[in-house]
Amino acid sequence: MSRFVKLMVAFLTIIILLSATFAGVAVFFIGERVVAEAQNRVSSDLNSAGEMYEAYSDRLYDLIRLQADRFYLRDALLAGDVTAAAGELTGKMASEQLDFLTVTDAAGLVLLRAANPGVVGDSQAGVSVVAAALGEAKPVAATTVFTADMLGRESPSLPEVAELQLVETQGARPRDDTVETDGLVLLAAAPVVDEAGDVIGALYGGWLVTRRNGIVDGIKETVFGGAQYEGRDIGTSTIFLDDVRIATNVLNEDGTRAIGTRLSEEVYNQVVVGGERWVGRAYVVNDWYITAYDPLRDRDGSVVGILYVGTLEKPYVDLRVNTSLLFLAITLIAVVAAIAFSYVFSRRLSGPVRALVEASRRVAAGDLQAKVTVTSNDEIGELASSFNTMAASLQARDEQLKEFARKRIMESERLAVVGQLAADVAHELNNPLQGIVTYSHLLLEKMTPDDPRRSSVEKIANQANRCATIIRGLLDFSRPTKPQKKLTDVRTSIDECLSLVEDRVLFHNIEVVRDYQEDLPATVMDPAQMQQVFMNLIINAAEAMGGVGWLTVATRLDVERTVIQASFRDTGHGVSEENMGRIFDPFFTTKEVGHGTGLGLAISFGIVKEHGGTITVESEEGAGTTFTIELPVQASEGEGQ
Ligand SMILES: Nc1ncnc2c1ncn2[C@@H]1O[C@H](COP(=O)(O)OP(=O)(O)OP(=O)(O)O)[C@@H](O)[C@H]1O
Ligand SMILES: [Mg+2]
Repeated sequence: MSRFVKLMVAFLTIIILLSATFAGVAVFFIGERVVAEAQNRVSSDLNSAGEMYEAYSDRLYDLIRLQADRFYLRDALLAGDVTAAAGELTGKMASEQLDFLTVTDAAGLVLLRAANPGVVGDSQAGVSVVAAALGEAKPVAATTVFTADMLGRESPSLPEVAELQLVETQGARPRDDTVETDGLVLLAAAPVVDEAGDVIGALYGGWLVTRRNGIVDGIKETVFGGAQYEGRDIGTSTIFLDDVRIATNVLNEDGTRAIGTRLSEEVYNQVVVGGERWVGRAYVVNDWYITAYDPLRDRDGSVVGILYVGTLEKPYVDLRVNTSLLFLAITLIAVVAAIAFSYVFSRRLSGPVRALVEASRRVAAGDLQAKVTVTSNDEIGELASSFNTMAASLQARDEQLKEFARKRIMESERLAVVGQLAADVAHELNNPLQGIVTYSHLLLEKMTPDDPRRSSVEKIANQANRCATIIRGLLDFSRPTKPQKKLTDVRTSIDECLSLVEDRVLFHNIEVVRDYQEDLPATVMDPAQMQQVFMNLIINAAEAMGGVGWLTVATRLDVERTVIQASFRDTGHGVSEENMGRIFDPFFTTKEVGHGTGLGLAISFGIVKEHGGTITVESEEGAGTTFTIELPVQASEGEGQ
């Protein structure tokens, strides 16, 4: 897996984790929001329902108040004959669809019942609404519970209407009875006063709320406006007596109104027992609703029933699901976009790096022309341009090396040709020269010492000898013999050379300084050949100093490179810069004709090379020259090479 793929995977993991967390949290809050919104809605719906219920109550209140003020009633009461008002009252009861309408005297004793003319004389002073109207001399309206007896007294048909079979309901509080006989009544009472303002009686009347679905349907119509969801009414409204549904538009499975079903114990405890509003989701009869319940209180403040509104939960659930899905879809699209973006981005990022890798491979494989084209201005761009610079300088270095190698090859070819030429010439000259040497010596033997030609022949013999020496040198150079190596101490070898020359006139004024490392190891070499090299260096030095100066001979062990160094430093005239490159060439000499063949260093170079070593020169013109030989340290022949 490439670094970029890893980077991308890491990025994507972060993106996906973050998105998932974000989406989860968001979906949760959307859900909470929707539920809270629904509960707010249903709470305000319940407020509207409460106002509507109040409106019914107010209507009843006004109705009773206005009738109580009518002259016919006052006159009848003052006259002591209420029956005179019976016709008027009965008509009013019918036109206002009141369930009962009753007149009492100032003490609360019933004088006339429009709905039940046969029953009079009982006291209604115990009914707090009536008592308040009489006692406080003002109209009063309130929700009131009437027992079956009370209902029956007001109107013989009412107990039957009020009686409800309780329907077994899951979650409802336990109840011993199976029938509800009480009735919830919207009751209003108003005092009847004489001209002096004294209370001479009371008029009261009301509606039995039980089974009077007009109220809850009116609430539903006004609050929910008949809104439907998937073919079902969204809103429902109910009035409870205690915990029994007595008027409702919540429907049973069979489409009938769920009258007689009961409230869950939990809601009952909060609303009826605790007297507080309850808002929440609840399973009502056969479906989930967002519901709100308010206590209905009688004139004394006791909770006698409940006003309920509820909306189907389904629309909110669907809203929540749809919003969440929409949100998830948006998140998903964002994640996909992020993935696509990071893919493109990482391709763009990894492209140049891959180009760099590719170019490095090519350079490693030897293609120094390899270049990276990178346009970006960032670190990668910098890297690429550094890479290009590096490749370019590598290429330049490579060309320099090639040029150098080419020169070296040409040089050695030249040396080879010169060497071959020298060998051929030497070979050709050797035989005639041997003839000259032999015959000149024969001639000398035959001559008397005083022969006048003798000095000339001696010159011929000497010069011929000199030529023979040169020829021998040439042959040595062109046909180097294989070294006969044995373990030798370099210091002893050099000392032998020095002892051979030190007595010579040339060395009389030369101070030889020996700077030898004490524990120098011995190494295998051909002592004769190496002595030829040392000797040449020593004599060259002495000649360069013109016989006066210091010759410092030093030996060292370079432990790291395991080589023995032997250096010869003189205080002679040095080598000019232009000659520096030529002193190892065969026949290169600055010495007068007859004094040097220019083969000494060429032969030395060959010998040292044959030993696997090197010979180098450092010189400062006019100050001196140092030749340094490096030989590999070897304990036996063939080792280390
Ligand atoms: N120690 C030195 N100081 C200054 N120049 C030197 C020294 N050694 C060698 N040279 C220069 O290098 C040349 C070549 O030296 P090389 O030993 O090859 O030949 P040669 O000494 O001239 O002749 P040959 O050694 O054959 O007698 C010398 O002529 C001299 O110019
Ligand atoms: Mg020499």
